[in-house]
Amino acid sequence: MDIAYPLEAQVYLTRECNLRCEYCILTKKQLKELSLDEWKSVFSVLDSIGIKSVKLLGGEPTVKGWLEELIAFITNNTSIRCVLLSNSHFDEDRMNSLVAAGLWGYFASVDSILAQPITPGSSHTDIKAMDGYYMLHKFKEAGVQFLGANVVISSENILEIPETVKKLSDEGFWVNLCPIIWGIRNSETSFEYRAPDSQLKLTSEYVPKLREMALELLRMKRNGAKIIASESYIQGIPIFGVRQHWHCSRLSQLRVDADGSIMCCPDIRGIASKKYTVWSLKDLQKYRQLVTTDWLKDSKQCPGCYWSSIFLAEENLLKGRPDFWYLNS
Ligand SMILES: C[S@@+](CC[C@H](N)C(=O)[O-])C[C@H]1O[C@@H](n2cnc3c(N)ncnc32)[C@H](O)[C@@H]1O
Ligand code: SF4
Repeated sequence: MDIAYPLEAQVYLTRECNLRCEYCILTKKQLKELSLDEWKSVFSVLDSIGIKSVKLLGGEPTVKGWLEELIAFITNNTSIRCVLLSNSHFDEDRMNSLVAAGLWGYFASVDSILAQPITPGSSHTDIKAMDGYYMLHKFKEAGVQFLGANVVISSENILEIPETVKKLSDEGFWVNLCPIIWGIRNSETSFEYRAPDSQLKLTSEYVPKLREMALELLRMKRNGAKIIASESYIQGIPIFGVRQHWHCSRLSQLRVDADGSIMCCPDIRGIASKKYTVWSLKDLQKYRQLVTTDWLKDSKQCPGCYWSSIFLAEENLLKGRPDFWYLNS
């Protein structure tokens, strides 16, 4: 049997963070985290098992003072393209040192470009939207090649999404979209990372607005807007973004937790995290067992989701792309 092994990985460098966004659950669970030397070893392994593209995230990766050293290591010692996804809550000196380390791509979380100037009591998603929009321009001036924004669609910003996407795209930034993922449906077993239920969630009453939004986004994409999400993903937002019952069919993206263990996906640690670390995948028999057996067992427990990251990884894999569309952009 031919096995398609993942070409991309998302790595939770840490579960610490300097902000507390209402929809985020990642910082709620702390783990014994890896040291810089251990992370260097992790990236050497990822390179050796064919990973081409990595997104560094967390938690907040920039809380790690050694982040630049890790980025320089990846850039100089592996063939992995490294993109940082951050809340941009840092100053320009830090931005310059990230660029000097060789960062290839930067994604800021910007849920709305209409966020008001930061005042005491501002929501943390507004803080990161303001910081993110500012930093994207700074990274652009510094010549970073691949720049984009991650936009979470929630009940609060549906109507602002087309304007936000248009502005970011017109200014040269790629936009990734993801409806808010919420609801711990089965915390007794494996759903450790679902965001809490909240006012921000998308329920059926928002379907008409989501349809309008999706139609506008499709029009924009067809007219050349820099929207990463595929047409089929955008079309699915009013359905799967509300019901969150989309299922992936294969392990398309490696997800590495802050302790170096392999997760089933962003929501589930599962059997994968108990049996596998990145280092264990050097043993190709084990890697094969993860892909063909254990991942499938984990995923059978899942009621579904609509994370755009996994959707895109799956599409890349299905199209058999040895490289990703954006590496040539
Ligand atoms: C977990 S954060 C880690 C990186 C960084 N701290 C940040 O906020 O950009 C990665 C991305 O997931 C998004 N995110 C967090 N919780 C989410 C949720 N419940 N549903 C959808 N996206 C979520 C964040 O807005 C961010 O763009
Ligand atoms: S900044 Fe990122 S990691 Fe921190 S709380 Fe917000 S979404 Fe979570």
